[in-house]
Order: sequence, then structure tokens, then C-alpha cells
Amino acid sequence: MHILGISGSPRKGNTEWMVARLLDVLAESGHSTEIILLRKLNIRNCNGCLACDIGGKDRKGVCKIRDDMQDIYPKLIEADIIILGTPVYFDMLSGMLKNFMDRTCAIWPKLEGKKLAGIAVAEEGIGKAVDNLKTYANICSMEWAGQVTALAKLPRAVAGDAALNARIRKLAKKLDDQRY
Ligand SMILES: Cc1cc2nc3c(=O)[nH]c(=O)nc-3n(C[C@H](O)[C@H](O)[C@H](O)COP(=O)(O)O)c2cc1C
Repeated sequence: MHILGISGSPRKGNTEWMVARLLDVLAESGHSTEIILLRKLNIRNCNGCLACDIGGKDRKGVCKIRDDMQDIYPKLIEADIIILGTPVYFDMLSGMLKNFMDRTCAIWPKLEGKKLAGIAVAEEGIGKAVDNLKTYANICSMEWAGQVTALAKLPRAVAGDAALNARIRKLAKKLDDQRY
């Protein structure tokens, strides 16, 4: 399977570490993986023009905004499993990840049937962040494949947490098993 991980944190922090770790474990099982760090890309806000919406379900998948999202569309369509990672901001997903989600307006019907797993990190509580990811999966008719959450504040505080590593391995095994 091809597994695409997306980190929606603006810093080289815990979300990024966890998404990368999950992909590493999946790569050990022979899957091809790729991580996309939204913080490094130029992805503008959806401008609401709805030009991508023409054709409804049969839309051509063309967003008029020419930025780094154009390279991501085919990667999303080709992936078997997508992992979305977010820091928790005000009990919700990050604006960076939400902005990315909004820009999938052009192609979201093409995500139908794919599996979606979530990563979320908060200092004190995950709030609605995992629910936000599940809502996206539901709207896109994707299959929710599970999540790993962690509590941490400083960048990379999660690295070296053995119990967390075990939970990441458990999710990887679940994703691996779902191949059959
Ligand atoms: C703007 C902002 C809002 C935050 N809101 C929350 C929150 O509502 N609840 C919480 O527990 N932590 C909150 N945090 C803390 C982050 O979730 C925490 O530092 C987390 O480790 C960030 O993940 P990252 O290292 O992947 O960026 C917030 C941090 C920022 C910068």
C-alpha cells in the first residue's frame, strides 16, 4: 500500500514526530510512505470561488489557485491510506490543517473509500480535534482507521516515550492488517 502522512503543525514538533514515526513503522512492513510537512509549503486559503465544484461528483479536480497544493492533489488520489496529524489549538484541529482540508474541495469525492487515520497532540486535552478529523473522513466517505493522541507541550517532548511508541505500533499493525 502507499501511505501518505500529512503534518499540520507549523513547527518541527510532536505531531510531525508522531506522523513520521507511524510512517517509519509502516515502511518496516514494506509499505511505501511519504510525509508532507504543510509548514514547508505555500498553500493559500481556499478563496471560495467554487470553480472546482462544477460537475458535482464528477468534478474535474481542478483548483484555480496555483500553489503547492497542485502537487499534493495527485498524491492524495494515489494514496491507499492517508494520515492526518494536527496539534490541538483551542480544542480543535490547527488552522494549517483546516486550510489544507478546505483546499481539497477540488478532489474530495476522489478520496471515497480510502482509509484515514489521525494523530493529535495537545498540552492538556485533545478536545474536539479527533472529532474534527472524523468529521472530515465522514464527509469524504473515507473509512476511519483509528488514531493516536498524546499530551505534550514542548517540541519533540513525545520522542522517546515508550508507551506512546507502543500505541503507534498498534495503530500501524491495525493499518497493516486492513490490507486484507
Ligand atoms: C495557538 C495554540 C493553541 C493551543 N491550544 C491548546 C488547547 O486548546 N489545548 C491544549 O491542551 N493545548 C493547546 N495548545 C498546546 C499545543 O497543542 C501543544 O504545544 C502541542 O504539543 C503542539 O503540537 P506540535 O508540537 O505538534 O506543534 C495550543 C498551542 C497553541 C500554539
